Amino acid sequence: MTTTATATATLAENARTMTGNGRGILAADESIKTMSARLEAEGIPASETARRDYRELLLTAPGLSEWVSGIILADETFGQTLSDGRTFPEACRDLGILAGIKVDTGTSVLPGQDGAFITEGLDGLGARLASYAERGAAFAKWRAVIDVTNVSEYAARANAAALARYAALCQEHGIVPIVEPEVLCSGAHDLETCAQATGLALAALFEELGRAGVDMTGIVLKPNFVTPGLDAASVGAHDVAAATYEVLLDTVPSTVPGIAFLSGGHPTADVCAFLSALSAVPDRPWNVTFSFGRALVSDALHTWAGDAANVTAAQDVLKANCKVSSDAAS
Ligand code: 13P
Repeated sequence: MTTTATATATLAENARTMTGNGRGILAADESIKTMSARLEAEGIPASETARRDYRELLLTAPGLSEWVSGIILADETFGQTLSDGRTFPEACRDLGILAGIKVDTGTSVLPGQDGAFITEGLDGLGARLASYAERGAAFAKWRAVIDVTNVSEYAARANAAALARYAALCQEHGIVPIVEPEVLCSGAHDLETCAQATGLALAALFEELGRAGVDMTGIVLKPNFVTPGLDAASVGAHDVAAATYEVLLDTVPSTVPGIAFLSGGHPTADVCAFLSALSAVPDRPWNVTFSFGRALVSDALHTWAGDAANVTAAQDVLKANCKVSSDAAS
């Protein structure tokens, strides 16, 4: 094999590892601002140390790698050390968990688009990726945010183009890009509205990924489930799975190895029911699994409450949520 062929094969293998065998991805990459707000909401004073202690609790939950193939870290955590002196990426490697890094720098408002967002972070991204790769990152994440109330062809395409540039740069540095076009589930919209917005976002995304020369065998797609808004009447898991599958089948090439869903603020039991119904669809072209944040960690954060005496109990709660999510993906 040539070097390029080897690099391509490694990307494809890592993308399959991230999404296969019933394992999924733990999203622990909240920004400093978001993580601090979540700590404070639990009565825990936010600090660099508190954020580190919490992420150490998550990563070192005994046996985590049974259900978790990769963990997405924030830049702050990526450079921190555990209490035993290992960096987080080093500890990931020792635990048999791939280390990931969130590389977008958040959103700003797209002018003239009724408040629609664009995700920032492309400037200097190549140099940042080179540094993360050298320090042990196997994959990265970039999240585009789409609101059904102001989604437009232009906003979907602008975000898709940014995702495509990011993905091509990741692959150039031997890093698997998680591409995440998240249609938010806040609001009272119906299932069909979410299906249309998700279809628009995914169609634009795969067109732009193709134009950017991204190798589809070396990416992981991280979409939302197609659901009614959280303030609308809910529908059954089989309806969610059917609507989600229809949109995915229409837009996602069969060469994509795996799809890892975000939880988006839905309760753990609900997203596990959606995933379980979807993984039961016969002859699916791609692996399906979880890349949940809140659905895995919110209970653990609450149980920990910033007290070292609660670490084991919090880890038990995290492991239970990882196990039900993994069971749903299997
Ligand atoms: P949630 O599962 O909490 O939506 O977070 C997943 C994620 O990584 C969002 O970017």
